[in-house]
Amino acid sequence: MKNTIAIGIQWGDEGKGKIVDLLAPDVDVVARFQGGPNAGHTLVIGDQKTVLNHIPSGILHDNTLCLIGNGTVVDPFRLVEEMDMLLAAGIPVSERLKISERCQLILPYHRALDAAREVAKGKNKIGTTGKGIGPCYEDKTARRGIRLVDLVSDDLDARIDANLEYVNFMMTSYLNAAPVERADVERALDLARERLLPLAADVPLILQRRIKAGDSVLYEGAQGSMLDVDHGTYPFVTSSNTVAGAALAGLGVGPKQVDEVLGICKAYTTRVGAGPFPTELYNAEGMCDAEQAGKHMAEKGHEFGSTTGRPRRTGWFDAVVVQHAVRINGVTGLAITKLDVLDGLAEVKLCVAYELDGERIESVPACCKRLEAVTPVYETLPGWNESTFGATALDQLPANAQALLRRIEEVCDCPVTMLSTGPDRKHIIHL
Ligand code: GDP
Ligand code: IMO
Ligand code: MG
Repeated sequence: MKNTIAIGIQWGDEGKGKIVDLLAPDVDVVARFQGGPNAGHTLVIGDQKTVLNHIPSGILHDNTLCLIGNGTVVDPFRLVEEMDMLLAAGIPVSERLKISERCQLILPYHRALDAAREVAKGKNKIGTTGKGIGPCYEDKTARRGIRLVDLVSDDLDARIDANLEYVNFMMTSYLNAAPVERADVERALDLARERLLPLAADVPLILQRRIKAGDSVLYEGAQGSMLDVDHGTYPFVTSSNTVAGAALAGLGVGPKQVDEVLGICKAYTTRVGAGPFPTELYNAEGMCDAEQAGKHMAEKGHEFGSTTGRPRRTGWFDAVVVQHAVRINGVTGLAITKLDVLDGLAEVKLCVAYELDGERIESVPACCKRLEAVTPVYETLPGWNESTFGATALDQLPANAQALLRRIEEVCDCPVTMLSTGPDRKHIIHL
């Protein structure tokens, strides 16, 4: 297999974990380049379900080296928990995993700040995962972050002192919240020293050697393009670049070391957390369309967050969003997931444009308020009653399901190369 970047191109939870796990046997290395424990990637093999947060979705395969790149943010408590969960399942994690020494650490004060800021925002909150992601990336950019390599630095104590002074001033004097205890921070640092530092490595050097030797790499994204801090629905985004370009900076490889960009999206759309969602039909407050299609998607698709358990908002496939993502990522092929969830709907809709102030537009407005104000322009296609669940060949699909795929390809101007028809590794059609 060629060197491929596999990324989500909606608002996350597109099925990246499933797709990466099934492609992993065809590559030598799987590498994560951004995000952290805000990600929840689900792998299903028979009756065994595994949810990964930091660890690349290639970890279940014997001969796959897994790398966590410098662009990620790592919470020692969560990552060690994840490693122990895999160890208990008989996976020799330490033999398969290396962590960039340049990774930023999420410390207890990042989680505390994340939570306190959301409370302070009240009804304007972002709806973050509460994992400390934003504050950790902020510290990285502000040049006060603590990296894995810094655990053995002799100025670490002084840097933690300075960070805590600043954080606790914010917590108590601005956010009206309890201060963070230094002992909690020390526990995180000790755990990282004991369990993560032995896996620290020069990731760009490993990648360079492997690629030179002819090995192939699968670069695994987290979140989705509409959550990208530059290209997404700002400010309702995560705090990292989630687009394909971030794979290079987040691992230390060059543009010529990538051959393909696989854009993963559902056959409909979901979003968790606040922010605009033009084709939304259904959410926790119960809003729904006449045909109850949104409720059908939520229930049949089991649309609850893998990490937070929060109900996901659901709606029709938004081709304006997917076209935007195809452009900003240079997507070379689409992987459409959860086609089976649409089984049993009388009609299926595709949003092909928006109407804004009486005008038709075919791109995503940069301003959130404008995106909130758009009305989707839909194309309606006939649905199907047959089950597509578990199909492994195109000719097993009803004609109307095939027609939907062809229309998605046309509208998004990108070939569909993979089609997922169930959560299991084996529920896949290669096109
Ligand atoms: P990720 O964050 O992109 O890896 O996606 P999540 O794991 O958070 O959410 C995707 C959910 O859909 C998981 O529960 C998967 O097991 C499930 N899933 C993935 N592909 C399919 C599919 O084709 N059909 C169905 N029914 N479920 C799927
Ligand atoms: P995977 O990798 C879906 C969303 C949160 C919130 C916003 C900011 O499983 O697709 P953050 O905690 O990152 O500061 O939250 O981003 N979000 C996700 N939504 N899937 C994810 O990851 C997400 N990671 C963050 O819900 O709206
Ligand atoms: Mg997820």
